Amino acid sequence: MKNEIKIFAPATIANLACGFDVLGLALDSVGDEMVIRKCDAKGIFITKIIGSDLPLETENNVAGVSALALLEKLNIDFGFEIEIYKNIKPGSGIGSSAASSAGAVWGINELLGKPFSALELTQFAMEGERLASGNAHADNVAPALFGGVTLVRSYTPLDVIKLPCPNELYATVIHPQIELKTADSRKILKTQISIKDGITHWGNVGAFVAGLYTNNYDLIGKSLVDVVAEPQRADLIPLYYEIKEGVLKEGVLGVGISGSGPSIFALSKGKEMAEKAAEEMQKIYEKLDIDFDIHISKVNEQGIRQINN
Ligand code: HSE
Repeated sequence: MKNEIKIFAPATIANLACGFDVLGLALDSVGDEMVIRKCDAKGIFITKIIGSDLPLETENNVAGVSALALLEKLNIDFGFEIEIYKNIKPGSGIGSSAASSAGAVWGINELLGKPFSALELTQFAMEGERLASGNAHADNVAPALFGGVTLVRSYTPLDVIKLPCPNELYATVIHPQIELKTADSRKILKTQISIKDGITHWGNVGAFVAGLYTNNYDLIGKSLVDVVAEPQRADLIPLYYEIKEGVLKEGVLGVGISGSGPSIFALSKGKEMAEKAAEEMQKIYEKLDIDFDIHISKVNEQGIRQINN
């Protein structure tokens, strides 16, 4: 058995406008790094967190609780130490807690010789999401673990489908440096939607999936419609509609709130358009006194991966 592994755990975009809590995709150019190491003592020990002020206590740490959920299924007389190097800021809307949760269980599974499937790992990592947001949603952890674009078909029982992804699909993400806790931006959502909004959403989810299967970029773009979360959350994100309108004019396929915000994403066909979207986002956001990061990324088909020490 290998004793140590270093991994890259990608940022993810959840919801993808039409798929609240069910659709997500993994990014390639931004993510955390983690080192996971076998140790003699039983249990999970978070030994180092660099880049963010997050709790080291196992039970209060999303990587810790996810790893404990995995360990509960095993009868082993050793444990694991976890070091987390955060590049994804908590409360950014690009799956910060998911990267840590999914990374921890993926790394441990590798060291153990892969006893668990991606679906089982998703179930464990959802415990981290439960701790972070009060809700065990899988739309960030699933793409991190399966790679590419994923659909949560069912939560009970958990069923995740990895969808195909056209080769030239790029994401541009602007992350305004304000923290928006998922728990808070979930609290403001009404718990019921109208049948009219339901029709809009399930029509678009089906079309989005069809677009992915047929490499139909226009259909993918047309399907990026959110009449449920966007109208309720947009006010939490400075200049959300200006960004949306501005980058749509540039010719991107579609725009939406990344996860629970404040990040905003655009999907484009090709890198050139993704870069144009980034320029437009920058132009608009420079008007504000808020720092921001912009990421341009191809969809990451692999998900979490091992990197060299
Ligand atoms: N589906 C979740 C939400 C994603 O929108 O609350 C959080 O990243």
